[in-house]
Amino acid sequence: MRRVQIFDTTLRDGEQSPGISLSVEEKVEIAHQLARLKVDVIEAGFPITSEGDFEAVSRIAAEVRGPAVAGLARVKFPDIERAWEAVKWAGKPRIHTFVGTSDLHIEYQMRSSREQVVKEAAEAVRFAKSLAPDVEFSPMDATRTEIGYLSEVVAAAVEAGADVINIADTVGYTTPAEFAALLKELQQRVPELKERTLSVHCHDDLGMAVANTLAGVEAGATQVEVAVNGIGERAGNASLEEVVMALATRKDFYGVEVGVDTRQLANTSRMVSNMTGYEVPPNKAVVGRNAFAHESGIHQDGVLKDRRTFEIMVPQDIGLDGNNIFLGKHSGRHALKEAFEELGYHLEGDALNRAFRQFKEIADNKAVTAADLEAIAVDQVGSF
Ligand code: KIV
Ligand code: ZN
Repeated sequence: MRRVQIFDTTLRDGEQSPGISLSVEEKVEIAHQLARLKVDVIEAGFPITSEGDFEAVSRIAAEVRGPAVAGLARVKFPDIERAWEAVKWAGKPRIHTFVGTSDLHIEYQMRSSREQVVKEAAEAVRFAKSLAPDVEFSPMDATRTEIGYLSEVVAAAVEAGADVINIADTVGYTTPAEFAALLKELQQRVPELKERTLSVHCHDDLGMAVANTLAGVEAGATQVEVAVNGIGERAGNASLEEVVMALATRKDFYGVEVGVDTRQLANTSRMVSNMTGYEVPPNKAVVGRNAFAHESGIHQDGVLKDRRTFEIMVPQDIGLDGNNIFLGKHSGRHALKEAFEELGYHLEGDALNRAFRQFKEIADNKAVTAADLEAIAVDQVGSF
């Protein structure tokens, strides 16, 4: 079965989220957790950008074992040297170099030419390869790059020795079907890609980062670039936990394997949220507080009889204790009875009916707490 590598960019693209600034210690702590999660690659930072980032990447490279450690660099020799100085301590060091390839980026951002960009990309990859055993090249804004030119740049990078080619949907512009078609055409035009790792890096500007990433896997990608809780530039990157759980839960459909220990997902999400100050919305897929919470009576009744009725994943898969029956105004008697049992009260018959009426009165106005349940149960038990 094809293995898809998980490349985590929480500490690089994720840290580029507005308002996030992690200390060196926090980055090292998160990197250790990413190693426990068993991601394949940790993109630890962009070493040329600051002393702090250089130090964080160097410490992660020296201390964290298991995943490969990548450092980002523009296609400029000083960037590449600095990235190498930081990642060279790793068991598996990688230099990741990138350049904009769409005409918009070439003309307006870099004020360069297509010819110059191909030349610089090839020279940068060759130089990086003279330093590091593992080199990744990203054509930035690839999804808005004319396919003939994109193929030319990718072919030049492969020829120069790139081990990984990462197709970036930098501004979250593509759609799943369009992205899959682009990747297929690229693989036809550059057959040498078969011997390389084909990677995808999708942003969430139109809310399609996860869908585009999964379309990339269907179209042959063997590395996906993701971030914990989906953090990253603007609307963020494809969320690690969503991509991983989609591939794991629908293995029957995607037919690929991932090496991640999914039981570390909840912990990792919580740690990244606490350290970045970016809260996880309660309804976020996989790691949101409500991801396994059932409120309506019909759903709760079904889950209590057999959880497969309304759950496609079990909370234990991501490292949570059990499912979360949320008691609210849509809940039914069955769930209420179970909640009382958990608190140590056995209510049935008329007592349960009366308790249920009291519960609904409270639930109509506010969230029902354990203290409310306790008070109802004591009231009913006292009335026996
Ligand atoms: O979004 C992007 O294009 C990037 C590259 C550096 C891969 O983050
Ligand atoms: Zn990005």
